[in-house]
Amino acid sequence: MELRKRLEKATFAAPEKTRIMAVANQKGGVGKTSSAVNVAVALAKGGLNVLVIDSDPQGNASTALGIPHDPEIASLYDVLIEDEPLSAIVTPSPEAESLLCAPATIDLSGAEIELVPMVARESRLKNALADYFTEREEQGLPRLDYVLIDCPPSLGLLTINALVAAREVFMPIQAEYYALEGIAMLWKNIDLIRKHLNPDLVVSTILLTMYDARTRLAAQVAEDVREHFPTQTLDTVIPRSVRISEAPSYAQTVLNYDPNSTGALAYRAAAHEISRRPEPKN
Ligand SMILES: Nc1ncnc2c1ncn2[C@@H]1O[C@H](COP(=O)(O)OP(=O)(O)O)[C@@H](O)[C@H]1O
Ligand SMILES: [Mg+2]
Repeated sequence: MELRKRLEKATFAAPEKTRIMAVANQKGGVGKTSSAVNVAVALAKGGLNVLVIDSDPQGNASTALGIPHDPEIASLYDVLIEDEPLSAIVTPSPEAESLLCAPATIDLSGAEIELVPMVARESRLKNALADYFTEREEQGLPRLDYVLIDCPPSLGLLTINALVAAREVFMPIQAEYYALEGIAMLWKNIDLIRKHLNPDLVVSTILLTMYDARTRLAAQVAEDVREHFPTQTLDTVIPRSVRISEAPSYAQTVLNYDPNSTGALAYRAAAHEISRRPEPKN
């Protein structure tokens, strides 16, 4: 059966417990935000309850999910710095039913510095998320199946908060030269976080993005990544696709902007693969 037909029939199984994934790579422009929003929309369209936390001051994930994020609205900044509950900022996304987004505004750029002197500065997102889960339960709201945290392109306190709040790291890697060198530093930081702050953290998912099937370089990079990370790397690769890059300017994800494009199909396949893979166990 062709991929599109197979995916239309595909059911997305709910995980045993909420899967919390930090979408991280300290390099900019590798497809973190595109992967976070498109996988999130695909999972939600598959019937799952999904929350995207936009933890990049640029607010690209908020834009793609059609969530306003002008400086005057309450955002992740207020949660991390002002102790606002997540429930005060979580907004339904028009991209899919059962998809929620905690938006970021430009204020968040100040949080990197404002967090420094704070108590439990590395655990503020983790604590806010735990309170949010409890609040949802008390209100009889359904359990969230996936939480995807879109990280900024740095290894500062915002990314650290995401890595402490998460159980899994979801690492998009752009299929280009130096791809592996770029993640060595991230890997070292993940080891440090595991040692000191979050012993359960695992790099569960690696996704090759912007894959250009016409070049030998892309194939070579993919082979190297698979050789280093055989169990983590998804079979699905995301092709280079103009539709993926056009979608945000319409405040949409490619899954709604052009659902049958190769980029949309690839993200649905990636989401389906993530939902079928074994969850990390304690
Ligand atoms: N598969 C793709 N094909 C073409 N352009 C892409 C693809 N994935 C992302 N882009 C574009 O590349 C740029 C960087 O992607 P983005 O997801 O914002 O990366 P990051 O969040 O890591 O900075 C954006 O302009 C995005 O629209
Ligand atoms: Mg981004």
